[in-house]
Amino acid sequence: MKGIVLAGGSGTRLHPITQAVSKQLLPVYDKPMIYYPISVLMLAGIREILIISTPSDLPNFRRLLGDGSQFGLELSYAEQAAPNGLAEAFVIGADFIADDDVALILGDNIFYGQGFSRTLQAEVAGLDGCVLFGYPVKDPQRYGVGEISGDGTLLSIEEKPAVPRSNKAITGLYLYDNQVVDIARGLRPSARGELEITDVNMTYLRQGRARLVELSRGFAWLDTGTHDSLLEAGQFVQVLEHRTGVRIACLEEVALRMGYIDADECHRLGAKLAKSGYGDYVMDIAKAAGATA
Ligand code: DAU
Repeated sequence: MKGIVLAGGSGTRLHPITQAVSKQLLPVYDKPMIYYPISVLMLAGIREILIISTPSDLPNFRRLLGDGSQFGLELSYAEQAAPNGLAEAFVIGADFIADDDVALILGDNIFYGQGFSRTLQAEVAGLDGCVLFGYPVKDPQRYGVGEISGDGTLLSIEEKPAVPRSNKAITGLYLYDNQVVDIARGLRPSARGELEITDVNMTYLRQGRARLVELSRGFAWLDTGTHDSLLEAGQFVQVLEHRTGVRIACLEEVALRMGYIDADECHRLGAKLAKSGYGDYVMDIAKAAGATA
């Protein structure tokens, strides 16, 4: 399976912060926001990743992440000329996807929970059609909303419904088989002028091939869409990291644990960041894993 991180958009809800910097490069405590979704794809076992952003922001993502080989990844980059909708990712990424399955994750979505990696790998392995991830929220009218029956079957999906049929927001992580490229190519822009991910998901739902995995109690799906939620996400990560002594979405550590790089390579990455606590942490975990440096 391949992976796409969609990291474009105009970030207007965070102006003036995002007037000169991409939203997905803003810090969430100790690392740029895009580290979080990239770590999710890596934990799912995905190593070929396309990053899509605006023509003006794309060079900054490249500067931050390069070709990904330092993390044992193959990163490539593509422009989205204007925010024409989430589903445009599959049209832009069609050549990259080729005849593979694909995971799409939004560059501003943060997921954290025990056992998430195992859940992801199982869903990737058993994929038939599409897999969506639902999370209970207080304000479902702000999101795509999924309705499920008592036995867990997905009954309906609606984008930002005025009267939501459930409290299950459909999060910004989606797994699809290769049919998604044809589906996206056949879409027409919605009333708000976008190629809607919800229309893609509806096509799979009509085929009886859409599955909703519920992210349950104890799981955190964090929003970074407003000044308050961005700050709260940073505070959440700070408290979690201070209390547990481990960092989340540390790409060097994820690459090491997934076997994408070895302990010595990990240590070299940490040494380059030696002046920050983050770099010290990377060197420590590398040493604990047997780095010889
Ligand atoms: O976060 C999950 C929600 O994401 C889902 O529940 C909704 O079904 C889905 O439509 C989407 O809703 P949003 O209202 O959050 O979408 P928004 O337009 O804010 O875009 C989400 C991110 O994707 C944002 O960081 C900007 C980026 N983006 C957006 C569009 C429309 C792009 O990179 N390109 C685009 O064309």
